[in-house]
Amino acid sequence: MKEKITDILQKAQKEIPECKGLQNLENLRIKFLGKKSELKSLLSQIGQLPSEERPIIGQLLNKTKNQIANIISQKKIELKKIEQEKAADRKKIDITLPCRPLKPGAKHPLFQIWEKIEDIFAKLGFEIVEGPEIETEYYNFDALNTPEEHPARNLQDTFYLKNGMLLRTETSPVQIRVMEKHKPPIRIISPGRCYRNDKVDASHSPVFHQVESLVVDKGVTFSDLKGTLDAFVKMMFGENIRSRFRPHYFPFTEPSAEIDILCVNCKGKGCKLCKNSGWLEMGGAGMVDPAVFKNVNYDSEKYTGFAFGLGIDRIAMLKYGISDMRILFRNDLRILEQFV
Ligand code: DAH
Repeated sequence: MKEKITDILQKAQKEIPECKGLQNLENLRIKFLGKKSELKSLLSQIGQLPSEERPIIGQLLNKTKNQIANIISQKKIELKKIEQEKAADRKKIDITLPCRPLKPGAKHPLFQIWEKIEDIFAKLGFEIVEGPEIETEYYNFDALNTPEEHPARNLQDTFYLKNGMLLRTETSPVQIRVMEKHKPPIRIISPGRCYRNDKVDASHSPVFHQVESLVVDKGVTFSDLKGTLDAFVKMMFGENIRSRFRPHYFPFTEPSAEIDILCVNCKGKGCKLCKNSGWLEMGGAGMVDPAVFKNVNYDSEKYTGFAFGLGIDRIAMLKYGISDMRILFRNDLRILEQFV
């Protein structure tokens, strides 16, 4: 019996110090000291020993039990400490690690062009004004000499609101608002958002951007208009980009013209971008129609004026070589990052 007990103690002295993890230690405690352990079964056999041996074996069993319990509790302290250290390590922040690179934000490419347009016209002496995106029929159509039967008043083009208001289809109503408030001389531009019920495709979007301009004074001529637009185009696209006028019709200007610029890609030779014409369309322009002056009580005998409206989205597309307008509105970071 004595040998068995010594044997158990030796096993415990070997296995317990080698044990890893608190759960394994608990398993060892059950193995050596639990109800089904060898020590417990030896204890229950004491009764069968000769009476003189009983106290000796009993004491030995107790002593061994205490020794094993000691070894276990010491190991427990050691293992707990290791686990605490591990947990603390996990919580530690290593401030020497390099941080993830932060991507700087940037202005949207469209807005960068918007600002460039403002800068150019500010240099040319223009004031920048804003107008409302929600308009009345009067400002968007009637005051601009756009008769009732004009296709632009068609329900398919215009977003009408329930209260009889509408989303402006162009920035031209700002002309009326400015002239109602101010006497000539006037020299303004007004960039802003416009809305039309158009199907989205590579060159159409229900929300788009225009920059309107209006100049009214004594003796303003068609060549002032041409000179101003030429100066703008050169400052925007470069000295070698010319502009040209094509006769056109707008209700609020007479005469009216469409503005083209020399193709920024092929410089007039003809390519895919300009559909082999050598020119790209950029907007409309003309001399303010006396009928419009009448609506704002300007004397058309005394004053003349010019106006134009350019597509900001179009300018951005030409400037950056973007062939599909949808790219400007998709907010795809892979594209936007290229304009930082
Ligand atoms: N508002 C016109 C459009 O959206 C563009 C335009 C043409 C504006 C002639 C003007 C202008 O100021 O004089 O198609």
